[in-house]
Amino acid sequence: MDKIVIAGGQRLRGEIQVSGAKNAALPLLASSLLSTGASTWHNVPNLNDVSTMGKLLRRLGCEVSSASDATADGQDTLIIHPYRVEKAGFTAPYELVKTMRASVLVLGPLAARYGRARVSLPGGCAIGARPIDMHLRALEAMGAQISLDHGYVDLSVPHGRLRGSNIVFDVPTVTGTENILMAAALARGRSVIENAAREPEVEELAIVLNKMGARIQGAGTAVIQVEGVEELHPIEHAILPDRIEAGTFLVAAAIAGDDVLVKDCRPEHLDAVMAKLRTSGVRMEIEEGGIRVFGNRDLDIQAVDVTTQPHPGFPTDMQAQFMVLACCAHGQSVIKETIFENRFMHVPELSRMGADIHIDGRVAIIRGRRPLAGATVMATDLRASASLVLAGLVAKGRTEVLRVYHLDRGYERIERKLRAIGAHIERVEA
Ligand code: EPU
Repeated sequence: MDKIVIAGGQRLRGEIQVSGAKNAALPLLASSLLSTGASTWHNVPNLNDVSTMGKLLRRLGCEVSSASDATADGQDTLIIHPYRVEKAGFTAPYELVKTMRASVLVLGPLAARYGRARVSLPGGCAIGARPIDMHLRALEAMGAQISLDHGYVDLSVPHGRLRGSNIVFDVPTVTGTENILMAAALARGRSVIENAAREPEVEELAIVLNKMGARIQGAGTAVIQVEGVEELHPIEHAILPDRIEAGTFLVAAAIAGDDVLVKDCRPEHLDAVMAKLRTSGVRMEIEEGGIRVFGNRDLDIQAVDVTTQPHPGFPTDMQAQFMVLACCAHGQSVIKETIFENRFMHVPELSRMGADIHIDGRVAIIRGRRPLAGATVMATDLRASASLVLAGLVAKGRTEVLRVYHLDRGYERIERKLRAIGAHIERVEA
């Protein structure tokens, strides 16, 4: 299995490009199931999770083809045509769902457009139990009949069409809101989703569905209103930049950079992350082309306390990366994880590199400025693996990050991007 090898201590300088957002691409590609023809998606990141979604959509009877895209900086274009979904059996099999929980995003579109779905239950994952009970309850409220059968969610819609409904989520759920948004777009009548997730990716999905002909208002706020329509038509759309990849590069630049431009990101999606970076003393400027970070050689970073929250709060997907910033900071930082119950798997690995981190339940206390030393490390999820790469950039000596497939799920060619701005980092094929 491939590994990433880093020789720490190099200064980063130059421009680093942000790719299309994984967590926008996944619901958007799934939304292709809703339309009457072939949709074209530009700026699709080249990630394992995206190819898993491609495989799943093929399995569900879509034609998925790629085209090289001259207009979007050489990044990938996918064309998805749901041309024979009725013949393909409406099944998202365990083999695919177990490799990517976001496979559950086909449930809403299948229920809405075809009135049938059989989707494997994802089960727990490394960062927490992550049930989908809120997705299922909302679909039931819209008239779907759901039973659990040998690990599968078996869904059918009597009379073929969901009905609009008032949905109140117990807590904001990102993929839950996305599933119900897609379901409501083609339901009969009006739906209101309360306590909806406000993440930019949810808003992007609503923009796209409206382009397809849906009637959605309020996405990006906690209350979304949807007037169901009869039909949605195919569109062409470029996926927004990945705010978590951008945030990861901001931290890299803050701890190891001299002058780095994180290119083509959307600063308005990074408010909470930038606010915390500023509190810790990192100097940044928003430019037309992105965010410029002026790192400082003396690593004059101050401790910073962080509590993860649903958007617009501080994202759980940046918690592990901020832990590395805290390791480099003067003083004691407190990081509290409120979204997932088991998202500190990077801590034992960072400790092996010399970090001083104490965990008490969902709180991590980090005493900064302990020298980090390169080591062989591995993590069991995507953002934890990204934090180990960041730690490797500032550690003394050689760091090997194993289980690179976690990184490949959510970061497009991270080693090439970091190498281009001066990191000594390479992928070693096993
Ligand atoms: N939850 C339930 N029941 C449900 C749904 C969620 O109890 O039916 C709980 C979860 O267990 C969690 C909380 O609600 O405690 C919020 O989870 P949410 O549903 O919002 O998470 P998700 O939709 O499964 C997405 C991202 C994650 C990101 C979270 C939180 C995608 C494909 N995934 O997951 O991204 O961490 O929102 O922002 O959008 C990542 O990219 O590394 C990643 C894990």
